[in-house]
Amino acid sequence: MELQDRLKALKEEYRKLIEEANDLQILQKLKAEIIGKKGEITKVLKSLKEVPPEKRKEIGKLANEIKEFFEEFIKAKEQEIKEKLLEEELKKSKVDITLPPYWIQSGTSHVVRRTLKEITDIFAYMGFKIEEGPEVEKEEYNFDMLNIPKDHPARDMQDTFFINKEGYVLRTHTSPVQIRAMLKRKPPIAIVAPGRVYRKDADPTHSPMFHQIEGLFVDENATFKHLKGILKTFLEAVFGKNIPIRLRPSYFPFTEPSVEVDIGCTVCKGEGCRVCKGTGWLEILGAGMVDPNVFEAVGIDSEKYSGFAFGLGIERITMLKYQIPDIRLLFTNDLRFNTQFTGF
Ligand code: DAH
Repeated sequence: MELQDRLKALKEEYRKLIEEANDLQILQKLKAEIIGKKGEITKVLKSLKEVPPEKRKEIGKLANEIKEFFEEFIKAKEQEIKEKLLEEELKKSKVDITLPPYWIQSGTSHVVRRTLKEITDIFAYMGFKIEEGPEVEKEEYNFDMLNIPKDHPARDMQDTFFINKEGYVLRTHTSPVQIRAMLKRKPPIAIVAPGRVYRKDADPTHSPMFHQIEGLFVDENATFKHLKGILKTFLEAVFGKNIPIRLRPSYFPFTEPSVEVDIGCTVCKGEGCRVCKGTGWLEILGAGMVDPNVFEAVGIDSEKYSGFAFGLGIERITMLKYQIPDIRLLFTNDLRFNTQFTGF
C-alpha cells in the first residue's frame, strides 16, 4: 500500500476507535499507539528518510497534519470523558433536600448558670467587682466574724455541713466573702460574690447545694438610700421596669438594720396565688447596713465608714423567672428540661 493510503487508513481506523473510547485508560492506550513515541504516525515520520525525496515533503506534511489532528481530537475526547465521569459522580451523590436534617448537638450553659451570669453582669455594669471565696470555708469567716454567735441556730448540725477538718465548714452562704473582701481591700469597696453554698436541707424549694450572690458596698457616708437604689436598679433589670418592690424589717446578725426585700408576685401580679401563698408578694433577698461588729472584726473604723450588704439565692430567682415548680428539676440533668431554656 502506498504510504499515503496507509496514513489515511490509519487515520480512519484510529479516529473510529477513539470516537468509541469511553474511558481514559483506553484513550491513553490508543494515543500511545497512534502518536506516542513508538506510535504508528511517529514511525512514519521517522522513516521519512527512506522515502524518495520527491514524495517526502508531501507525506511528511500529511503525517504531521494527522498527528496534529489526533492531538486535538484526543484532547477533546479526554475532556468529554472527564465531563461524563463528573456528571455520573454528581448524579450518584445528588443531595436530597427533602431529607430531614441531622445536626450536631452542642453543649450550652445551664439555666442556673445563665441566671447567675446575668445577675453578676448587672452588678458588674453598676461598677461592682467580682470577688470569689472558697466553698470549704473557715468557720470563723462563715459565722464568727459575721457576728453569728456560737449558739446561733444556723450553726446547728441541721443546717451546716461540718467536715472532718477542725475549724472548717462547707460555707452555708456567700457572706464570708464579705469578710475576705474587707480583710483584703480598703474602702471604698464594691463587690459581688457569686458561688455555690451548702446546707443540710432538701425539699421542693431547698437543695443541699445551691447558688447565692452576695453584695457588699463600703464607703464613707454609704446610706440605706444607696442600698435601696442599687436593689431597685437590679430588680428592675431582672424582672422589668415596673415591678413592685417592698422592704420589710427583718433580722440578720451581720446587718443592722436588716430588711427582707419582696417583689410583687410575678405569677398573679399581686392578686394572690399558690406561688405567693396568697400574699401577692415574693420574698427575693436579704439585705441591710453592715453591722458595726462586722466592721470591728475586720478592722474597719465604723465611725468613719458605713456600708450595706445583700444576698440572694440564684435558684429561687431562676424558678420565679421561668416558673419552675420544683428546685430538684434544676439538678436532675434531664435534657428534656435543660434544653427548654436555650432551644437546643
Ligand atoms: N447570708 C444570708 C443568707 O444566706 C443572706 C443575706 C442577708 C446576705 C442579708 C446579706 C445580707 O449580705 O445583708 O440567708
